[in-house]
Amino acid sequence: MAVTKAVLPVAGLGTRFLPLTKAVPKELLPIVDRPCIEYVVAEAVAAGITDLVFVTARGKGAIEDYFDRSPMLEATLEAAGKGALVAEVRRVAELARVVTVRQDQMRGLGHAVLCAAPAVGNEDFVVILPDDIVDAEVPVVAQLLNVHAARGGAVVSLKNVPRERTNRYGICAGPMLTETLMRIDRMVEKPKPEDAPSTLSIVGRYVLPAAIFAILRETPPGAGGEIQLTDALARLPLAYGHVFSGQHFDTGNPVGLLEAQLHYATRHPEYGAAARALCARFAGS
Ligand code: UTP
Repeated sequence: MAVTKAVLPVAGLGTRFLPLTKAVPKELLPIVDRPCIEYVVAEAVAAGITDLVFVTARGKGAIEDYFDRSPMLEATLEAAGKGALVAEVRRVAELARVVTVRQDQMRGLGHAVLCAAPAVGNEDFVVILPDDIVDAEVPVVAQLLNVHAARGGAVVSLKNVPRERTNRYGICAGPMLTETLMRIDRMVEKPKPEDAPSTLSIVGRYVLPAAIFAILRETPPGAGGEIQLTDALARLPLAYGHVFSGQHFDTGNPVGLLEAQLHYATRHPEYGAAARALCARFAGS
C-alpha cells in the first residue's frame, strides 16, 4: 500500500531562536519568499504524500493558518484584480490535506510522534522534521520510500557527521548492504564520541510502521529526560538506513538557517542575481 501520510512534529520551543520564537514559530521563518516548513511540505508532496499531520503546541497556530484557505484575503485580492496572488495564496492551501493534533507537554520527539497515532491509524507513515531541509534531485522522502517499497521495514535517512559531534544526533550502526544502504542493528541517541558505534547520524526523515506507536507507549524517557524516537526505533524488528544524496541544511539554528537562505537565494529565478551581488559585496567586508 502506498504511503500517503506524513507526521511533522512542530511542537518544540525553538529555544535557539529566542526571543524571536516567543511570538513566531521558527517553522515560519523565511527562506527567501517562503517559510522553512513549505520546503519540506513540498518535498513530501513531490514524494506522493497527500495528508499531513502537524503535531503542534500553544503558539503554533500560524502554521495551520498558513496551509489553510483564506477566503477573505482571496476575495480582497480578487476584488483588487490581483489574480496571480490569489492563485499563489490558494496554491499553498491546496498542497495537501492537513490535520492538526496538539502535544500538551514537551515530552520529546517520540512523544510528539505518539500524539499523531489517532490521525495516522494502522498504516505505514513518514515522519519529517521541518528543521532538516534537503535540496535533492530526488526528494529524500522519495528516496526512503523507494527503499521501503523494495525491502519493507522502517527506513531512516543517514548522513555522515564528524565524530566529535555524535553527541548531538541519533547514531546508527550495522552492515552496509550497498554503498548507501545499512541494515541497522544498533541505534543510540546522542552517544559520546568515544561511545558512538559509527558516525552515521539520523537526519529528520523516517518511514515507520504503525507498530511504532505501541512501542512508543512503552518507551521510558531517555537522553535529556525525553521520550526519544530513536529508543523506540531500536526496538523495531527490521530497520534500514539510507545514506541520502542531496545538500542538507539544519535550519534549527541561526547559522544553518542563514546558510539555507543563501543557498536558495543565490539560486532563485527572480532574486538570484541580486542575492549573488549582495554576497559578493559582503564577502569583501
Ligand atoms: P529540537 O530538539 O530541535 O527542539 O526538536 P526545538 O524545540 O525544535 O528547538 P531548540 O532545540 O529548543 O532550539 C526536534 C523536533 O522535534 C519537535 C520539534 O518541534 C522539532 O521539529 N519536538 C521536540 C516536538 O514536537 N515535541 C517535543 O516534545 C520535542
